[in-house]
Parts: sequence; C-alpha cells; structure tokens
Amino acid sequence: MSPVVSFDPLEVPVTDWTPGLADGAFFDGISEQALDPMLTLLAQLRTDTRPDKLDLGIGVYRDEAGRTPILASVKAAEARLVDGQSSKEYISPEGDPGFLRSLAPIVLGAHAADPRIAGIQTPGGTGALRLAASLIARANPRARVWLGQPTWPAHAGLMQAAGLETIDYPFFDRATQTLVFDDMMRALESAVAGDVVLLHGCCHNPTGAEMTPDQWRDVTALIARKGLLPLVDIAYQGLGHGLDEDAAGLRGLINGVPETIVCVSCSKNFGLYRDRIGGIWIKAGSADAAHRARNGLMVAARSMWSMPPDHGASVVRTILADADLTALWRGEVDVMRRRIQSVRQSLATALPALASVARQTGMFTLLPLAPGAATALRVEHGIYLMDSGRINIAGLREATLPRFADAIRPHLT
Ligand code: LMR
Repeated sequence: MSPVVSFDPLEVPVTDWTPGLADGAFFDGISEQALDPMLTLLAQLRTDTRPDKLDLGIGVYRDEAGRTPILASVKAAEARLVDGQSSKEYISPEGDPGFLRSLAPIVLGAHAADPRIAGIQTPGGTGALRLAASLIARANPRARVWLGQPTWPAHAGLMQAAGLETIDYPFFDRATQTLVFDDMMRALESAVAGDVVLLHGCCHNPTGAEMTPDQWRDVTALIARKGLLPLVDIAYQGLGHGLDEDAAGLRGLINGVPETIVCVSCSKNFGLYRDRIGGIWIKAGSADAAHRARNGLMVAARSMWSMPPDHGASVVRTILADADLTALWRGEVDVMRRRIQSVRQSLATALPALASVARQTGMFTLLPLAPGAATALRVEHGIYLMDSGRINIAGLREATLPRFADAIRPHLT
C-alpha cells in the first residue's frame, strides 16, 4: 500500500517509482556520448589561454581584425525595432509573414511567386533541416537520404533523428582536392524513386568545392529522371560569387524537378548566428500539396519549438523592407565575400600546393593534412581546426597567415 504523503515537489513518494529508479538512478543508464567535433573543439579553444591562439574552427565570418562584428544594416534595423516594437506576443507558428515574403525572392528568385512553393520560418538552417527530416519521414518513412561525403557533420544526425536512413555518396577527394562528379553521379544511379539527395546550395561545407553550372544541370536531370527528392541546404549565399550567382544552381534545380525542399540559414550572410533565423520552403506538385506540406511543417515545429524566435526575423524583414538598408546589407555581404576571396588568394600564394583553395568558394576548405596534424597544430601552435582538416578561411588574417602557412607546411600530404 502506498504511504499517504502530503505533496512536496521535492519529495516524491518513492513507492510510486519504478523499481530500480527509486534511488535517484534515472539517468545512470545514459552513457557518455561524444559531442559533435565542432562543439568539442569550441570547448578546447575556450580553455586555451594562449593570447595568439588561432580559431579556424566554427564557421563564423571574421574581419581583418579577427572580430565578428554586427553588420551595420543589422544594427540600424535593431535600432528601429527597439523604438518601434510594441509587443513580445507570440508570432504565429509559421513565423513572420513579412520575413518569409521578403527573403523568398532573395533565395528562390522568380520561383518565390510559384503557388506550388510554401515555406515557414525556422530557428536557423539547422531547424529547417530538422523539420525537413520530419516531413520526409512522414511522407515516406522508407526514404533514404543520400549525403555527399564529406559533408557538414550535423547532416547525418539531423536526418537520423527523424528515423531516416542515411547513405553516403562520394563528392570530394581530399588528396587531389577535386569534386568527384562522375563518382557522385554513378553512386546516385543506385538511389531509388522516393529517396532524398542532399545538396549544398553553394559554398560547400566543409570543402569549398562547388558544382559547375553544367554539373548542376546534369544532377538536376538525374534527380528528375529517377524520381528523387532534392533537399538543398543553402547557408552561405552571397559568400561565394554573389547573392544571385550563388543561388543559380538551386533555382535551375527548382525549375527542373517537380518537388524540392530548400533549407535556408541567415546566420552567415546576415551575421545573425545567435539569433537563430532561417526558413524552409517546399516546392510540391501542386498548390494544394504545398499547403498540406506547410501544414505538416507547422505540426512538426509545434512539437519541437512551438513558435519560432522573432528577433532575427524582424531584423531581416526590416532590412529587406527598406531600400537603403537592403543596399547597405548587400554591400556588407560583398565586403565579407571579397575578404574571403582575398584570404583564399593569399593562402594559395603562400602555399602553392594549395592552389585549389583560390578556386574554391565560401568559408571553408578541407586541407590535405597528415593524420594527427590537427592535434599537433592545436597543441604546439594553438591553431584550432577540425580533425578532418577543415579550416574556416575567414578566421585567417593577413597578419596571421604567414604563421599559419609555416605551421601547416610540414603537415601537408
Ligand atoms: C559550421 O559548420 O562551422 C557552422 O555551420 C556552425 C555549426 O553549427 O557547425
């Protein structure tokens, strides 16, 4: 018989507990899990007290002084919001309609007006990918998600969290620093109708390698012919060749296939990393199917974060609603891109073995380093990069580049 106890939230009657958990052992069954390598690297970096430590880890833009400043366009929009915002009431589950309306043409171009395309706001590009996985699992639980290797380490976990199987396809060969397009196409021939192919919209993470317009056309044709669903992750738009140029492959793909999922991040090109702002758009076979897919996204979001955070969306909407702020923002994206291109050029000049770095785009490159090099660079030089050899190009400066080049030279394979 259970003892009668007066309610005390800190003193739950132990007789109601499952045997074995009564002694505070509920969490004892949880084994230590490895953190995403990115998070481990961040933790190591934070405890390093060397003043000249060099952070080439997480993908954030840094200027020539090594800072990640808030964009002037963002600051101006925020000032307006502080003055003008009158409530912190929830926005709706689909997010801020003004944000969605203004961002869609930036990413999708003329497709933004297609009634078969519908989208919602998400907490960052990661939130968009997690929602995409949920929707895919709901539409086709047997769908396998094809991931080009190497890819952003979180991709597999985000898909598997929804119960989806992931399969690798070759994308890039580190030793020769080349995109292995023929191998990729051969592998994708084994995908079956209803499978999903994840593609990076631009500025590939972690390799910086990008498909040519012809390769985009060919992979689009393969996807359409085989009845696959493309899932495009576009997180670095504007940091490769330009806002429109970086979305050209994606827009051609949308044109050439009946259905698509597009996951967008505003973290990098608006510098709104910690504000967690992004979006997901679905192109379905009809306006009605797009409406139902959007509804499915909102249902999935409700059981994860319920309503999206507002601040980043309000900032983006405010910038894109104002011609002057939009021009200011576009100029700031140009500055970020040009600096990245110039660091790429300097690195390729300092180390001719890395000539391919100058041809790649975006924040990342995957250095051909000997095993153990990342640890040695971290321990001996305070240079932080992923064990895979990925570096954030924007973390380098003209002032630190010679030291970096000297440190990695002996480790290049
Ligand atoms: C990166 O790859 O460094 C960024 O996308 C940040 C992250 O969350 O991993």
